[in-house]
Amino acid sequence: MDLSGKKAVVFGGTSGIGLATCLLLAGDGAEVIALSRKPDKAGGLPNGITTYACDVRDHKAVETILNELSPIDILVTTATGGKRAYGPFLEMDMDGYKASFDKLWGYANVVRFGAKNVSDGGSITLVSGAPARNCQPGQVALSSVGGAVEAMMRAVAREVAPRIRVNAVSPGTIDTPMVLVQGTERQELYRKTTKNNLIPRAGTADEVAQGIIFVIKNKFVTGITVDVDGGWLLREP
Ligand SMILES: NC(=O)c1ccc[n+]([C@@H]2O[C@H](COP(=O)([O-])OP(=O)(O)OC[C@H]3O[C@@H](n4cnc5c(N)ncnc54)[C@H](OP(=O)(O)O)[C@@H]3O)[C@@H](O)[C@H]2O)c1
Repeated sequence: MDLSGKKAVVFGGTSGIGLATCLLLAGDGAEVIALSRKPDKAGGLPNGITTYACDVRDHKAVETILNELSPIDILVTTATGGKRAYGPFLEMDMDGYKASFDKLWGYANVVRFGAKNVSDGGSITLVSGAPARNCQPGQVALSSVGGAVEAMMRAVAREVAPRIRVNAVSPGTIDTPMVLVQGTERQELYRKTTKNNLIPRAGTADEVAQGIIFVIKNKFVTGITVDVDGGWLLREP
């Protein structure tokens, strides 16, 4: 699929995986709109990418902006939504566990109010995460949310076929601004969290964005999850 002249809307497009996706889309000639709560964080962006402020948890704001931007050819959301809870389920703070689902509610808003504004032949792409299908210790919240994202993706893919396609991309450990620690602490964190992967390093945002571009461009895929995870799914728990 030739992306030149296509309109792409990327929630979470101002950082990490979303920003890398915007850069690839714009590089392929798409008109790109990147949205997040504080879009200035994206810094200087090349021509072809404009930014808007929008919180994906605010369904009225999401509906309004998606109606304004309609018709949309390519709809992507990578927005993390809010905080994530870590730790064993039997010791879990339940407010923290529930809050982790802000990612799902944000994605749900984007899909619910975005699908009708996606033009025929267009696509929606969501980003889940490797813990959805191989949960490591302490990742029950990530796993639950990621699993729900993938289940929603498959359910909606059936509803909207064949008019539009819906897919997910599932990253493993990716070096993005989501992790705040810097320097040797950051290196050590990535070393520890990836040492049992088949490819023992953190991935790059660009490597995940390439998976997103694949499902956008390939007109014969819908309802699938593309794993860009360094072999996370095959590693020992
Ligand atoms: N990095 C990893 O290792 C990894 C692994 C597995 C899955 N993932 C998933 O990949 C996706 C992207 O992660 P990333 O690493 O690229 O994170 P990131 O660099 O922190 O980027 C997250 C983006 O989401 C936006 N965002 C967060 N909450 C939002 C909200 N409520 N409304 C609108 N925008 C919001 C942020 O901008 P604002 O703060 O300005 O809103 C930012 O643009 C996430 O869904 C994450 O769960 C990441």
